Amino acid sequence: MLTHEEIMKALKHVEDPELHKSIVDLNMVRNIEIDGANVELEVVLTISGCPLKARIKEDVENSLKGIGAAEVSLTFGSMTPEERAVLTKTLKQNATTETGMPSMLRPESGVQFIAVTSGKGGVGKSTVTVNLATALARMGKKVGILDADIYGFSIPAMMEVKQKPTMLDKTAIPVVSHGVKVMSMGFFTDNNNPVMWRGPMLNKWIQNFLANTHWGDLDYLLLDLPPGTGDVAIDVAAMIPQAREIIVTTPHNVASYVASRAGAMAKHTKHEVMGIVENMSYYEEQDGSRNYLFGKGGGDMLAHRIGSEVIARIPFAKREENNHSNVYDEDSLTGEMFTSLAQDVVHRGQISYQ
Ligand SMILES: Nc1ncnc2c1ncn2[C@@H]1O[C@H](COP(=O)(O)OP(=O)(O)OP(=O)(O)O)[C@@H](O)[C@H]1O
Ligand SMILES: [Mg+2]
Repeated sequence: MLTHEEIMKALKHVEDPELHKSIVDLNMVRNIEIDGANVELEVVLTISGCPLKARIKEDVENSLKGIGAAEVSLTFGSMTPEERAVLTKTLKQNATTETGMPSMLRPESGVQFIAVTSGKGGVGKSTVTVNLATALARMGKKVGILDADIYGFSIPAMMEVKQKPTMLDKTAIPVVSHGVKVMSMGFFTDNNNPVMWRGPMLNKWIQNFLANTHWGDLDYLLLDLPPGTGDVAIDVAAMIPQAREIIVTTPHNVASYVASRAGAMAKHTKHEVMGIVENMSYYEEQDGSRNYLFGKGGGDMLAHRIGSEVIARIPFAKREENNHSNVYDEDSLTGEMFTSLAQDVVHRGQISYQ
Protein backbone atom coordinates (compact mmCIF):
# COMPACT_ATOMS: atom_id res chain seq x y z
CA MET A 1 0.00 0.00 0.00
CA LEU A 2 1.30 3.44 -0.93
CA THR A 3 1.85 5.95 1.84
CA HIS A 4 1.10 9.64 1.98
CA GLU A 5 4.83 10.38 2.27
CA GLU A 6 5.69 8.32 -0.82
CA ILE A 7 3.05 10.15 -2.79
CA MET A 8 4.22 13.58 -1.70
CA LYS A 9 7.81 12.61 -2.42
CA ALA A 10 6.91 11.54 -5.95
CA LEU A 11 4.82 14.66 -6.55
CA LYS A 12 7.66 16.87 -5.40
CA HIS A 13 9.14 16.30 -8.85
CA VAL A 14 6.04 17.52 -10.65
CA GLU A 15 6.37 21.20 -11.53
CA ASP A 16 3.78 23.80 -12.24
CA PRO A 17 4.52 24.29 -15.96
CA GLU A 18 4.39 28.06 -15.71
CA LEU A 19 5.95 28.77 -12.35
CA HIS A 20 8.59 26.05 -12.71
CA LYS A 21 8.28 25.14 -9.08
CA SER A 22 7.19 21.88 -7.48
CA ILE A 23 3.44 21.62 -6.99
CA VAL A 24 4.18 20.30 -3.50
CA ASP A 25 6.26 23.35 -2.64
CA LEU A 26 3.54 25.57 -4.05
CA ASN A 27 1.09 23.87 -1.69
CA MET A 28 -1.12 22.81 -4.57
CA VAL A 29 -1.67 19.17 -3.55
CA ARG A 30 -4.68 18.48 -1.32
CA ASN A 31 -7.01 15.76 -0.04
CA ILE A 32 -4.97 12.67 -0.78
CA GLU A 33 -6.99 9.48 -0.29
CA ILE A 34 -5.31 6.11 -0.62
CA ASP A 35 -7.19 2.90 -1.23
CA GLY A 36 -4.68 0.10 -1.79
CA ALA A 37 -3.00 0.97 -5.07
CA ASN A 38 -5.62 3.55 -5.98
CA VAL A 39 -5.00 7.20 -5.24
CA GLU A 40 -7.42 10.08 -5.19
CA LEU A 41 -6.18 13.63 -4.88
CA GLU A 42 -6.94 17.23 -5.62
CA VAL A 43 -4.62 19.75 -7.22
CA VAL A 44 -5.53 23.38 -6.66
CA LEU A 45 -4.48 25.68 -9.45
CA THR A 46 -3.31 29.25 -9.19
CA ILE A 47 -5.96 30.41 -11.63
CA SER A 48 -9.08 28.48 -12.49
CA GLY A 49 -8.80 28.46 -16.28
CA CYS A 50 -5.19 27.24 -16.19
CA PRO A 51 -4.35 26.40 -19.79
CA LEU A 52 -1.82 23.77 -18.79
CA LYS A 53 -4.15 21.51 -16.79
CA ALA A 54 -3.70 18.55 -19.13
CA ARG A 55 0.05 18.68 -18.68
CA ILE A 56 -0.19 18.71 -14.87
CA LYS A 57 -2.66 15.81 -14.97
CA GLU A 58 -0.35 13.74 -17.14
CA ASP A 59 2.70 14.52 -15.00
CA VAL A 60 0.86 13.67 -11.77
CA GLU A 61 -0.47 10.39 -13.20
CA ASN A 62 2.90 9.37 -14.57
CA SER A 63 4.75 10.09 -11.38
CA LEU A 64 2.22 8.21 -9.22
CA LYS A 65 2.08 5.26 -11.59
CA GLY A 66 5.87 5.30 -11.44
CA ILE A 67 5.71 4.45 -7.74
CA GLY A 68 3.11 1.73 -8.19
CA ALA A 69 -0.30 3.43 -8.24
CA ALA A 70 -2.84 1.53 -10.32
CA GLU A 71 -5.58 4.15 -10.64
CA VAL A 72 -5.11 7.86 -10.18
CA SER A 73 -8.19 9.96 -9.81
CA LEU A 74 -7.34 13.62 -10.01
CA THR A 75 -9.67 16.54 -9.55
CA PHE A 76 -8.78 20.19 -10.00
CA GLY A 77 -9.68 23.00 -7.70
CA SER A 78 -8.51 26.58 -7.56
CA MET A 79 -6.75 28.52 -4.84
CA THR A 80 -8.75 30.89 -2.71
CA PRO A 81 -7.90 34.58 -3.22
CA GLU A 82 -6.07 34.49 0.15
CA GLU A 83 -3.97 31.52 -0.91
CA ARG A 84 -3.17 33.17 -4.18
CA ALA A 85 -2.14 36.34 -2.36
CA VAL A 86 0.27 34.33 -0.19
CA LEU A 87 1.76 32.67 -3.24
CA THR A 88 2.13 35.97 -5.11
CA LYS A 89 3.79 37.46 -2.08
CA THR A 90 6.28 34.61 -1.96
CA LEU A 91 7.05 35.01 -5.65
CA LYS A 92 7.40 38.74 -5.19
CA GLN A 93 9.66 38.36 -2.18
CA ASN A 94 11.96 36.33 -4.37
CA ALA A 95 11.72 38.93 -7.13
CA THR A 96 12.45 42.05 -5.08
CA THR A 97 14.76 43.04 -2.27
CA GLU A 98 13.51 44.71 0.92
CA THR A 99 13.91 48.08 -0.79
CA GLY A 100 11.75 47.00 -3.71
CA MET A 101 14.70 46.68 -6.07
CA PRO A 102 14.45 43.79 -8.53
CA SER A 103 16.53 40.95 -7.00
CA MET A 104 17.88 39.95 -10.36
CA LEU A 105 19.90 43.19 -10.37
CA ARG A 106 21.97 42.06 -7.41
CA PRO A 107 25.39 40.81 -8.51
CA GLU A 108 24.88 37.48 -6.71
CA SER A 109 21.80 36.74 -8.85
CA GLY A 110 24.25 35.61 -11.54
CA VAL A 111 22.08 37.04 -14.33
CA GLN A 112 24.07 38.50 -17.20
CA PHE A 113 22.35 41.43 -18.86
CA ILE A 114 22.99 42.13 -22.50
CA ALA A 115 21.52 45.21 -24.16
CA VAL A 116 21.30 45.05 -27.94
CA THR A 117 21.56 48.56 -29.34
CA SER A 118 22.30 50.61 -32.45
CA GLY A 119 22.18 54.25 -33.33
CA LYS A 120 20.02 53.54 -36.34
CA GLY A 121 16.70 51.82 -36.89
CA GLY A 122 16.14 48.74 -38.98
CA VAL A 123 19.67 47.33 -38.82
CA GLY A 124 18.58 44.11 -37.13
CA LYS A 125 18.68 44.63 -33.35
CA SER A 126 15.53 42.63 -32.76
CA THR A 127 16.65 39.95 -35.20
CA VAL A 128 19.97 39.66 -33.36
CA THR A 129 18.18 39.60 -29.99
CA VAL A 130 15.78 36.77 -30.82
CA ASN A 131 18.35 34.66 -32.63
CA LEU A 132 21.07 35.09 -30.02
CA ALA A 133 18.55 34.28 -27.28
CA THR A 134 17.34 31.20 -29.12
CA ALA A 135 20.89 30.02 -29.78
CA LEU A 136 21.80 30.45 -26.08
CA ALA A 137 18.67 28.52 -25.10
CA ARG A 138 19.61 25.70 -27.48
CA MET A 139 22.93 25.49 -25.60
CA GLY A 140 20.98 24.83 -22.41
CA LYS A 141 21.18 28.35 -21.00
CA LYS A 142 18.21 29.88 -19.21
CA VAL A 143 17.36 32.94 -21.24
CA GLY A 144 14.86 35.77 -21.14
CA ILE A 145 14.15 38.63 -23.51
CA LEU A 146 12.91 41.93 -22.23
CA ASP A 147 11.53 43.84 -25.19
CA ALA A 148 12.61 47.32 -24.13
CA ASP A 149 11.32 48.78 -27.37
CA ILE A 150 8.31 50.10 -25.50
CA TYR A 151 6.72 51.97 -28.40
CA GLY A 152 7.86 49.87 -31.31
CA PHE A 153 7.82 46.38 -29.78
CA SER A 154 8.36 43.60 -32.26
CA ILE A 155 9.57 40.64 -30.21
CA PRO A 156 6.17 38.89 -29.74
CA ALA A 157 5.54 38.88 -33.49
CA MET A 158 9.11 37.86 -34.31
CA MET A 159 8.95 34.94 -31.91
CA GLU A 160 5.42 34.05 -33.00
CA VAL A 161 3.99 34.49 -29.54
CA LYS A 162 0.24 34.39 -29.81
CA GLN A 163 -0.83 34.16 -26.17
CA LYS A 164 -0.54 36.76 -23.40
CA PRO A 165 1.30 36.11 -20.15
CA THR A 166 -0.67 34.62 -17.29
CA MET A 167 -1.13 37.20 -14.55
CA LEU A 168 -0.94 36.24 -10.88
CA ASP A 169 -2.36 39.41 -9.45
CA LYS A 170 0.24 41.93 -10.65
CA THR A 171 3.00 39.43 -11.42
CA ALA A 172 3.29 38.31 -15.03
CA ILE A 173 4.48 34.84 -15.92
CA PRO A 174 6.50 35.35 -19.11
CA VAL A 175 5.44 33.50 -22.22
CA VAL A 176 7.96 30.90 -23.38
CA SER A 177 8.77 30.69 -27.08
CA HIS A 178 11.66 28.82 -28.72
CA GLY A 179 12.83 28.01 -25.18
CA VAL A 180 13.09 31.70 -24.26
CA LYS A 181 11.02 33.61 -21.69
CA VAL A 182 9.56 36.67 -23.36
CA MET A 183 8.19 39.86 -21.89
CA SER A 184 7.01 42.79 -23.97
CA MET A 185 4.86 45.87 -23.80
CA GLY A 186 3.11 44.30 -26.78
CA PHE A 187 1.33 41.98 -24.32
CA PHE A 188 -0.30 44.90 -22.58
CA THR A 189 -1.75 46.90 -25.43
CA ASP A 190 -4.99 46.42 -27.26
CA ASN A 191 -4.89 45.48 -30.89
CA ASN A 192 -1.31 46.58 -31.29
CA ASN A 193 -2.21 50.20 -30.59
CA PRO A 194 0.87 52.31 -29.95
CA VAL A 195 1.85 53.01 -26.39
CA MET A 196 1.52 56.59 -25.29
CA TRP A 197 3.61 56.75 -22.14
CA ARG A 198 6.62 58.98 -21.89
CA GLY A 199 9.43 59.84 -19.52
CA PRO A 200 9.05 58.75 -15.91
CA MET A 201 6.35 56.20 -16.72
CA LEU A 202 8.79 54.56 -19.01
CA ASN A 203 11.48 54.22 -16.38
CA LYS A 204 8.87 52.67 -14.13
CA TRP A 205 7.94 50.19 -16.81
CA ILE A 206 11.42 48.84 -17.05
CA GLN A 207 11.50 48.45 -13.29
CA ASN A 208 8.07 46.83 -13.41
CA PHE A 209 9.14 44.45 -16.10
CA LEU A 210 12.10 43.39 -13.98
CA ALA A 211 10.38 43.20 -10.60
CA ASN A 212 6.83 42.19 -11.52
CA THR A 213 7.73 39.43 -13.91
CA HIS A 214 8.32 35.94 -12.59
CA TRP A 215 11.57 35.40 -14.50
CA GLY A 216 12.64 32.49 -12.29
CA ASP A 217 16.26 31.39 -12.68
CA LEU A 218 18.01 33.09 -15.56
CA ASP A 219 21.52 32.97 -16.96
CA TYR A 220 20.94 35.76 -19.47
CA LEU A 221 18.46 38.56 -19.90
CA LEU A 222 18.67 40.17 -23.32
CA LEU A 223 17.21 43.62 -23.75
CA ASP A 224 16.09 44.65 -27.20
CA LEU A 225 16.45 48.42 -27.23
CA PRO A 226 14.68 50.87 -29.50
CA PRO A 227 16.80 52.59 -32.14
CA GLY A 228 18.83 55.63 -31.19
CA THR A 229 20.22 56.90 -27.98
CA GLY A 230 17.09 58.18 -26.27
CA ASP A 231 15.28 57.84 -22.98
CA VAL A 232 15.16 54.08 -22.87
CA ALA A 233 18.91 53.69 -23.21
CA ILE A 234 19.43 56.20 -20.41
CA ASP A 235 16.90 54.44 -18.20
CA VAL A 236 18.43 51.06 -18.86
CA ALA A 237 21.84 52.48 -18.00
CA ALA A 238 20.51 53.91 -14.76
CA MET A 239 18.67 50.77 -13.81
CA ILE A 240 21.14 48.15 -15.02
CA PRO A 241 24.65 49.63 -14.93
CA GLN A 242 26.15 46.16 -15.15
CA ALA A 243 24.56 45.47 -18.55
CA ARG A 244 26.96 44.92 -21.39
CA GLU A 245 26.13 46.04 -24.89
CA ILE A 246 26.13 44.49 -28.28
CA ILE A 247 26.03 47.17 -30.96
CA VAL A 248 24.46 46.19 -34.25
CA THR A 249 25.40 47.84 -37.52
CA THR A 250 25.29 47.04 -41.22
CA PRO A 251 28.42 47.11 -43.39
CA HIS A 252 27.27 50.39 -44.83
CA ASN A 253 29.48 53.29 -43.75
CA VAL A 254 26.65 55.63 -42.88
CA ALA A 255 25.02 53.02 -40.68
CA SER A 256 28.26 52.45 -38.89
CA TYR A 257 28.80 56.16 -38.45
CA VAL A 258 25.40 56.44 -36.83
CA ALA A 259 26.03 53.32 -34.78
CA SER A 260 29.14 54.97 -33.43
CA ARG A 261 26.80 57.34 -31.64
CA ALA A 262 25.53 54.29 -29.78
CA GLY A 263 29.14 53.52 -28.97
CA ALA A 264 29.66 57.04 -27.66
CA MET A 265 26.48 56.60 -25.68
CA ALA A 266 27.77 53.36 -24.17
CA LYS A 267 30.86 55.25 -23.04
CA HIS A 268 28.62 57.86 -21.52
CA THR A 269 26.44 55.28 -19.74
CA LYS A 270 29.61 53.38 -18.78
CA HIS A 271 28.22 50.17 -20.17
CA GLU A 272 30.91 47.79 -21.29
CA VAL A 273 30.64 47.15 -25.01
CA MET A 274 30.89 43.42 -25.52
CA GLY A 275 31.33 43.78 -29.24
CA ILE A 276 29.85 44.69 -32.57
CA VAL A 277 27.61 42.52 -34.68
CA GLU A 278 27.75 43.41 -38.34
CA ASN A 279 24.39 42.34 -39.73
CA MET A 280 23.47 41.79 -43.38
CA SER A 281 27.22 41.53 -43.98
CA TYR A 282 26.96 39.66 -47.26
CA TYR A 283 24.75 37.41 -49.30
CA GLU A 284 26.04 33.96 -49.97
CA GLU A 285 25.48 33.03 -53.61
CA GLN A 286 24.71 29.49 -54.78
CA ASP A 287 28.35 28.89 -55.64
CA GLY A 288 29.43 29.92 -52.14
CA SER A 289 30.83 33.30 -53.20
CA ARG A 290 29.97 36.34 -51.14
CA ASN A 291 28.05 39.26 -52.53
CA TYR A 292 28.58 42.39 -50.43
CA LEU A 293 25.26 44.07 -51.13
CA PHE A 294 25.66 46.77 -48.50
CA GLY A 295 29.34 47.38 -49.05
CA LYS A 296 32.13 46.40 -46.73
CA GLY A 297 33.90 47.57 -43.68
CA GLY A 298 31.16 49.23 -41.59
CA GLY A 299 31.69 46.88 -38.64
CA ASP A 300 35.46 47.28 -38.65
CA MET A 301 35.20 51.03 -39.00
CA LEU A 302 32.92 51.23 -36.00
CA ALA A 303 35.13 48.85 -34.02
CA HIS A 304 38.10 51.04 -34.74
CA ARG A 305 36.24 54.19 -33.81
CA ILE A 306 35.01 53.00 -30.44
CA GLY A 307 37.87 50.66 -29.55
CA SER A 308 35.89 47.45 -29.72
CA GLU A 309 35.81 44.45 -32.05
CA VAL A 310 33.48 42.74 -34.50
CA ILE A 311 32.27 39.56 -32.81
CA ALA A 312 30.01 38.33 -35.61
CA ARG A 313 29.23 38.94 -39.24
CA ILE A 314 25.73 37.74 -39.96
CA PRO A 315 24.86 37.15 -43.63
CA PHE A 316 21.57 37.94 -45.30
CA ALA A 317 19.23 35.12 -44.50
CA LYS A 318 17.56 33.35 -47.37
CA ARG A 319 13.87 32.71 -47.45
CA GLU A 320 14.23 29.00 -46.80
CA GLU A 321 16.31 29.53 -43.65
CA ASN A 322 13.46 30.50 -41.41
CA ASN A 323 10.13 29.28 -42.76
CA HIS A 324 8.80 32.85 -42.63
CA SER A 325 9.62 33.30 -38.94
CA ASN A 326 12.39 35.54 -37.67
CA VAL A 327 14.13 32.73 -35.83
CA TYR A 328 16.56 31.14 -38.26
CA ASP A 329 16.85 27.37 -38.40
CA GLU A 330 19.70 25.98 -36.34
CA ASP A 331 21.30 24.26 -39.32
CA SER A 332 21.01 27.18 -41.77
CA LEU A 333 24.05 29.36 -42.51
CA THR A 334 22.56 32.27 -40.58
CA GLY A 335 21.50 29.97 -37.74
CA GLU A 336 25.04 28.62 -37.48
CA MET A 337 26.43 32.14 -37.29
CA PHE A 338 24.16 32.83 -34.33
CA THR A 339 25.28 29.62 -32.66
CA SER A 340 28.89 30.74 -32.86
CA LEU A 341 27.93 34.21 -31.65
CA ALA A 342 26.20 32.57 -28.66
CA GLN A 343 29.31 30.49 -27.91
CA ASP A 344 31.41 33.63 -28.07
CA VAL A 345 29.02 35.49 -25.76
CA VAL A 346 29.16 32.66 -23.21
CA HIS A 347 32.93 32.64 -23.39
CA ARG A 348 33.20 36.41 -22.94
CA GLY A 349 30.79 36.27 -20.02
CA GLN A 350 32.96 33.69 -18.30
CA ILE A 351 36.05 35.82 -18.72
CA SER A 352 34.51 39.02 -17.44
CA TYR A 353 32.72 37.35 -14.53
CA GLN A 354 35.71 35.47 -13.16
N1 LIG B 1 20.47 38.94 -41.48
C1 LIG B 1 19.28 39.25 -41.98
N2 LIG B 1 18.88 38.66 -43.14
C2 LIG B 1 17.68 38.97 -43.69
N3 LIG B 1 16.81 39.85 -43.18
C3 LIG B 1 17.17 40.46 -42.04
C4 LIG B 1 18.41 40.19 -41.38
N4 LIG B 1 18.46 40.95 -40.27
C5 LIG B 1 17.32 41.66 -40.22
N5 LIG B 1 16.54 41.38 -41.28
C6 LIG B 1 15.24 41.97 -41.59
O1 LIG B 1 15.37 43.39 -41.58
C7 LIG B 1 14.26 44.01 -40.97
C8 LIG B 1 14.70 44.86 -39.79
O2 LIG B 1 15.23 44.01 -38.77
P1 LIG B 1 14.94 44.26 -37.23
O3 LIG B 1 13.51 44.51 -36.99
O4 LIG B 1 15.59 43.16 -36.50
O5 LIG B 1 15.75 45.60 -37.03
P2 LIG B 1 15.75 46.58 -35.76
O6 LIG B 1 17.10 47.18 -35.73
O7 LIG B 1 15.30 45.86 -34.57
O8 LIG B 1 14.67 47.62 -36.22
P3 LIG B 1 14.01 48.79 -35.29
O9 LIG B 1 15.06 49.84 -35.21
O10 LIG B 1 12.83 49.19 -36.09
O11 LIG B 1 13.69 48.18 -33.97
C9 LIG B 1 13.32 42.89 -40.57
O12 LIG B 1 12.35 42.74 -41.57
C10 LIG B 1 14.21 41.66 -40.52
O13 LIG B 1 13.51 40.49 -40.82
MG1 LIG C 1 13.73 46.32 -33.21
